[in-house]
Amino acid sequence: MAARLLNGQAIADQIRAEVRPAIDAFTARAGRPPGLGIVLVGDDPASAIYVRLKLKSAGENGLRADLERLPASASLAELVSVVDRLNRSDAHDGILVQSPLPDAMGPDAERRVFDAIAAEKDVDGFHPTSVGRLVQNRPTIAAGTPSGVIELLERSGIGIASQRAVVIGRSDIVGKPMALLLLHRNATVTICHSRTTDLAVVARQADILVSAIGRPGFVTADFVKPGATVIDVGTTHVTDRATVERLYIAGSVRRETFNRRGSLVVGDVHPEVVDVAGALTPVPGGVGPLTVVMLLKNTLRAAELRLENRGR
Ligand code: GUN
Repeated sequence: MAARLLNGQAIADQIRAEVRPAIDAFTARAGRPPGLGIVLVGDDPASAIYVRLKLKSAGENGLRADLERLPASASLAELVSVVDRLNRSDAHDGILVQSPLPDAMGPDAERRVFDAIAAEKDVDGFHPTSVGRLVQNRPTIAAGTPSGVIELLERSGIGIASQRAVVIGRSDIVGKPMALLLLHRNATVTICHSRTTDLAVVARQADILVSAIGRPGFVTADFVKPGATVIDVGTTHVTDRATVERLYIAGSVRRETFNRRGSLVVGDVHPEVVDVAGALTPVPGGVGPLTVVMLLKNTLRAAELRLENRGR
């Protein structure tokens, strides 16, 4: 039997409907909307799409959202000075610097920029203070994509406590916070990565398998225990035909989309997994919409905490 497809868009709509009145209430109380500053450096096409979605969603849901763009040639010092300005701005409660940064900025640029964001404005949950709080299970704001996955599981009626969870990928943005959020909900968690031996064997023990590595179709049927829940966080923009033809059969909707557009967003999970998993998030339309709505939620939370702290 084919897996149940978990509709991320419907769950994101549900969360948005809950958050919107709280955003309006904040605006009435504070005399201004919660404010978000997004910084985009360079012209990576995928990042431009994500940032556009974030700005659109913020604007449509009552937030003030400002985009700061810097060219790919910008220096790290220029980027940090934009972040500093947003740190000092009274109108901005949240700051998001879109990852990845251009390679030319240097290998530790991302870490230095995330460190430079004021901890109370860290709506991504990437600042060391936010990460430390998450490790100790007292988060104020946790990373959006993994938090969205938890919402998706809970609202789909998929139990986490006492389940075996395997997370493929150990990034600071998804893999590590994902593992911690699952652990704090009493899953037994294993993190796999590029140096894991017998990855498929380990993955096959999972009741909940999360993949976040950005390798199209990497998770094949042999990685999946029959009936398991599979969460696909991968979103790779594929432009080469060979990859599309390896994954999708001739005449399929996905191949037709590729033929029309010349590119396709592809997850980590191979299409054949639909015949083994019990539940599965599609790409697109699975985790992606939750990432966007969790940013609204995190920005509202940051705004509320700032307002409370000011009243003290
Ligand atoms: N790039 C991919 N996902 C994210 C995210 O959640 N936050 C930021 N800032 N950049 C990203």
